[in-house]
Amino acid sequence: MKTFRIIEFDSLDSTNKYMKENLDRLSVFDIVVADRQTAGYGRMQRRWFDNTENLSFSLYLEFPVSERNGLLTQIAALSVTDVLSELLSNVSIKWPNDCLVNGKKIAGILIENIVIGNKTKMIVGIGLNVNNKVFDSELQSKATSLFLETGIEHDKIAVLNSVLSKFEIYLDAFVKGDYSFMNTVRKKSYVIGKKVQLFEGNVVLVKTIDDYGRLEVLDQGELKTYMGSEISLTNIY
Ligand code: BTN
Repeated sequence: MKTFRIIEFDSLDSTNKYMKENLDRLSVFDIVVADRQTAGYGRMQRRWFDNTENLSFSLYLEFPVSERNGLLTQIAALSVTDVLSELLSNVSIKWPNDCLVNGKKIAGILIENIVIGNKTKMIVGIGLNVNNKVFDSELQSKATSLFLETGIEHDKIAVLNSVLSKFEIYLDAFVKGDYSFMNTVRKKSYVIGKKVQLFEGNVVLVKTIDDYGRLEVLDQGELKTYMGSEISLTNIY
């Protein structure tokens, strides 16, 4: 692997937060990984797991400001999905930022952007349930882990390296303006062709995910497009 530098911590509050607070001391392509996160968070400030079973890491990238930058969430989801698909079947992507196995969440992605002039400093946070043995009663029907699906424990850093080697391939394509990986994202999508309920909104039919990573939906006969940062999906039918 060419460019990534992995910086390991036993414990951090959040790898995304650490990265945001230490960007000046970090370089592009640095990875911060914590064996345990005590205050990890997801989209909408939802709490993320505090245990040593999850793989929790953040990757620092920089790009010129662009409407295409939303594709990085899809690249992260696809990289995780590729690794999982080598071990499991029925792996899918729930737009914009979740990876599922048999409809249960196994990974989540949270990208935070810091825009300075024409440059976006991007913190790509990925949380993957690797060795979790049980989930609490509320999550049991909604969440799963690599251990629960395969029956074996996995080395978290080996999983991280596998994700990074996929990420590198899609990142190279992205930088070259080759967005053909979006065909695989669409193929792996859990939501295309389904009716979904928009957060605090209508039930709409998902038509596709475009080459900007936006969701195209049919909302009462009208075609609408949403960025991942704009909405989240509640119910899926
Ligand atoms: C979500 O499901 O909404 C996204 C979850 C993202 C969790 C990861 S774990 C590594 C990184 N650090 C954080 O605090 N959050 C992300």
